[in-house]
Amino acid sequence: MKKYDVCVIKGDGIGPEIIEEAIKVLDAVSHKFNFELNFDYRLMGGAAIDIMGVPLPDETLNAAKSSDAVLFGAIGGAKWDGLPRELRPESGLLKIRKELGAFANLRPAMIFDELINASTLKPEIIKGVDIMVVRELTGGIYFGQPRVKNEKDALNTMCYNATEIERVAKVAFEAALLRNKKITLVDKANVLETSQLWREVVSELAKNYAGINLEFMYVDNAAMQLVRAPAQFDVILTENLFGDILSDEASMICGSIGLLPSASIGGKVGIYEPIHGSAPDIAGQGIANPIATILSAAMMLKYAFGENEAAAAIESAVRAVLRDGYRTKDIAQYDAKEICSTAEIGSIIADYAAKA
Ligand code: IPM
Ligand code: MG
Repeated sequence: MKKYDVCVIKGDGIGPEIIEEAIKVLDAVSHKFNFELNFDYRLMGGAAIDIMGVPLPDETLNAAKSSDAVLFGAIGGAKWDGLPRELRPESGLLKIRKELGAFANLRPAMIFDELINASTLKPEIIKGVDIMVVRELTGGIYFGQPRVKNEKDALNTMCYNATEIERVAKVAFEAALLRNKKITLVDKANVLETSQLWREVVSELAKNYAGINLEFMYVDNAAMQLVRAPAQFDVILTENLFGDILSDEASMICGSIGLLPSASIGGKVGIYEPIHGSAPDIAGQGIANPIATILSAAMMLKYAFGENEAAAAIESAVRAVLRDGYRTKDIAQYDAKEICSTAEIGSIIADYAAKA
């Protein structure tokens, strides 16, 4: 039987609750599809700061490096906001992404037809939307050196080299080949040198992908187009900070940020996490939506292990559960037949996936 080692990081806030449901669903499909998952639980973020004094302990990083994949919940909270930047929970996440070489962040934003009314945008605008944001994740202004902060000055720098651009662009082109064969490179090439380099490198690479339609769009326009006519997009390729912003925007097209998964890949070990944060305000109440994490687990099965059937079983279980009217509180007002707690909807999805 095939065996996979998963490093599980629950994190803070709703992290532990949503991860528990993803584990339930993973257990269900691993039995059904005949593979074994070994879960190794580790600390990162505020939970690690409280116990070990740092946001990413070496034990966690080493465990992640020697695993087959990292499944991660969410980190952060007001409790740790006053800490210096290097000691904040977010620094743990940025470091693990960098250390694992997870330079390509895939963030799909798709519409669940059952929830078409949950979006703040009109149904006719969002019908059929299926976007994949490919965000560069280990470069740009997040990591640029030098960085300075004192009382009078602050400095951050956006740096990119051709190698960093080309490797993430390749991921986008490969993704586009399996989708609608269109890439929109989002940048600010009318102002930024880094963006000009992105355009040059991506245009050059495009010569190897004859079937792909490559478009360029300034980031301000892209922010506008995403709410004006989101169906025009297929793959959006962009640098780290623009991708952070646009992927949150794209997530709201489908109604709840609690629904969308992500995969951070490129290195030997990938990180699979929901795109939402730790939502400390609703932690511990059993009302968090675990679907984004459950779908992240599905992405892990697909991208890290090639267990495509099991991944597809999870995706169809989620759709069927939504079709049958089961809802967590965040999406309760949209055609709900039954309002579920975090644990209840997790169990229902696990049952559906086991029967799929
Ligand atoms: C995300 C988050 C992180 C980021 C934060 C928590 C550092 O917003 O994964 O999108 O900016 O990358
Ligand atoms: Mg973000």
